[in-house]
Amino acid sequence: MRVVSGIQPTGNLHLGNYLGAIRRWATMQDSIEGEGGECIFFLADLHAITVFNDPAELRANVNGMAAALIACGIDPDRSILFNQARVPAHAELAWILNCTARMGWLGRMTQWKDKAGKNREGASVGLFAYPVLQAADVLLYQATHVPVGEDQKQHLELARDIATKFNTDYGVELFTLPEPHIGKDAARIMSLRDGSAKMSKSDPSDMSRINLTDDDDAIVQKIRKAKTDPAPLPDSWDELADRPEARNLVAIYAALTDRTPQSVLEDHAGQGFGAFKPALAELLVQTIAPIRSRLAAFSADPAAIDAILAKGSARAADIAAPTLAGAYQALGL
Ligand code: ADP
Ligand code: NA
Repeated sequence: MRVVSGIQPTGNLHLGNYLGAIRRWATMQDSIEGEGGECIFFLADLHAITVFNDPAELRANVNGMAAALIACGIDPDRSILFNQARVPAHAELAWILNCTARMGWLGRMTQWKDKAGKNREGASVGLFAYPVLQAADVLLYQATHVPVGEDQKQHLELARDIATKFNTDYGVELFTLPEPHIGKDAARIMSLRDGSAKMSKSDPSDMSRINLTDDDDAIVQKIRKAKTDPAPLPDSWDELADRPEARNLVAIYAALTDRTPQSVLEDHAGQGFGAFKPALAELLVQTIAPIRSRLAAFSADPAAIDAILAKGSARAADIAAPTLAGAYQALGL
């Protein structure tokens, strides 16, 4: 079993990124290893440039994201961790597969329609073709499984279609068809100021999110000021249906303790937020403080991050080499 997964390097990482994305990788690393498999994790910097990114910011985000992944439990000795741009095979295979993928297939991708919106003529060719780069990212390593959220299912189907067409067109059995790896549903963490908006780095109010760099006092303050309502907590999750802010705080508590929101409510039923918030804040401090200090240590040592990414990319390039060579050979090149 070989799992391949990428994440875009973004800055200002927050609790939503941690519970919704980064922590899942650490969990996956542990469970796949238990089954004798291997994880290949990469920072999708070649995907990031499909829209304009400030170069200095992109570089800082690649390093910051790598530091955060390691701080959150990705072990670069057990998993392969690198950034795409350091392994030229990604771009090389993407070009080859661009010649296999059909315009019509890509035109039907709902993410392309969403991202390009009305400005299709002004979108980069890379934005249109980026699902082909995604296909290359996984086919290059003969990935057996790819973790996909609902929004990425269509792209995984496309990767399978591209692999099948290449294998058929050239009469080879080069590419493994990857299966979706269905994990537990990711928590979707909402803003602390508005329970109906996603917690996001783009929210202008810093009080709306818990950052992985927040100190203990900031965490406590943000939870204390988080928007709620005066009613006590009910004993059933269904009764929170129309209380989005309360729901969010219970969901965060549940995600942090790996429990269902229902079981959290069973423990805290009847409590008001005067009691529940301090318990949640304490839990957050326990989770964030060790991550924050590891993150600070890595951020102060960019050479260590560079060495980790260099080593990870060398391991990745070794695994990718025979598949890329096989593709050139199949093409007669
Ligand atoms: P942001 O919304 O802050 O810009 P990104 O879009 O850069 O975050 O997301 C990076 C990763 O973190 C993605 O996998 C995304 O699904 C996850 N993520 C971001 N915000 C949340 C959230 N509020 N809850 C759960 N997951 C999230
Ligand atoms: Na975003």
